[in-house]
Amino acid sequence: MEYAFSSRISALQPSAIREILKVTSNPGVISLAAGNPSPETFPAKDMAEIAAEIFEKRFADALQYGVSEGYDPLRRVTAERLREKFSVGRDFDDLIIVSGGQQGIELSAKCFANEGDVILCEEPSFIGALNALRSYGVRLMAVPCGPQGMDMGALERILAETPRVKLIYTIPTFQNPSGVTMPLESRRRMLALAEKHGVMILEDNPYFELRYDGQYVPPIKSLDAAGRVIYCGSYSKIIAPGIRLGFVCAPKAVIAKLTVAKQVSDVHSNLFFQMLVCEYLETRDLDAHIAQSRALYKEKLERMTSALREHAPMLDFTAPQGGLFLWCVLPGGLDGAEFCRRMGGKGVAAVPGASFLVDEGAGSPAIRLNFSLPSARQIDAGCARIGETLKECLGERQ
Ligand SMILES: Cc1ncc(COP(=O)(O)O)c(C=O)c1O
Repeated sequence: MEYAFSSRISALQPSAIREILKVTSNPGVISLAAGNPSPETFPAKDMAEIAAEIFEKRFADALQYGVSEGYDPLRRVTAERLREKFSVGRDFDDLIIVSGGQQGIELSAKCFANEGDVILCEEPSFIGALNALRSYGVRLMAVPCGPQGMDMGALERILAETPRVKLIYTIPTFQNPSGVTMPLESRRRMLALAEKHGVMILEDNPYFELRYDGQYVPPIKSLDAAGRVIYCGSYSKIIAPGIRLGFVCAPKAVIAKLTVAKQVSDVHSNLFFQMLVCEYLETRDLDAHIAQSRALYKEKLERMTSALREHAPMLDFTAPQGGLFLWCVLPGGLDGAEFCRRMGGKGVAAVPGASFLVDEGAGSPAIRLNFSLPSARQIDAGCARIGETLKECLGERQ
């Protein structure tokens, strides 16, 4: 039977990463593909204790409907933490709890983008966001990027020449997939350009607290005195992704619209987990927990970079200062998608760079590797197979 799906959804390709994840659940496959945090970091023991207390004493609240803005005490502790630690949020701002940063992006697009509007983004960029933005019929335009993130000269030109730009979508810190971080000066310039052209900035910052090296760079939102920035954060990478909890900090009028958009989407985020995370934040030490995760990921990142240098010295990559990904450019113009197919045949999953492009049909010589999930042995074995496959591919060229 032919189903008459909406053009909105027919135009979307399934996320290459979600498709790869289906394969990586096969035993024996080494997955360097997903952006999953390591289960070693999940605070399962604390969560079990808190869960037991909630079910025993507060089940009537936890299992009841809640308000769309989120569980009030969690909104409060989240907003306080953001303001005190990162200067995110001013008196004109408010905060809503969402079902992961992904929902924050989707709701922002829903509230701001009309069909035919233009949204500017980095290229490469996070597939989940690109698809969420595409689903509202917008025209995505890539702004060229370099080792310092989005090129501000190019952004200025594009903003001057392009009508109907509604949003600039950016992942300024430890960008997914490239790993790069935008310097403070570029953040200031982006904000000034957004102000000049009357455009909103959607700052997506889920990796922000996973820094292993280098100097702290403040969020764009912390510089936002005019109410131009919608800030999307997440508990996925610093607590656990399965709880599906994120947050958006934005001017009050924007949060009011996001709340209406959320009401028609999922009413509210899972109340039990909102209460659990709230209790965790109030009674445990999230910063100490994040420090442990950082130490583990730093070790894994170093393991991966040294294994690649040993086994695949012809691969071009720059170690990121944080986040979960290593972006690698293959030598000799090899195609990333073809290379990942061959790696799949050897039981190693990686994501082709082309999956992160605005133009889904374009090729890319890059691949994205994740280092947070695999064990040290898997990192070594995976990198050794990358080296072997590269030698084979380059050998066939001669
Ligand atoms: C850049 C970026 N933004 C947002 C998300 C969404 O994360 P979540 O919905 O789990 O908070 C991800 C997940 O990988 C991501 O990489």
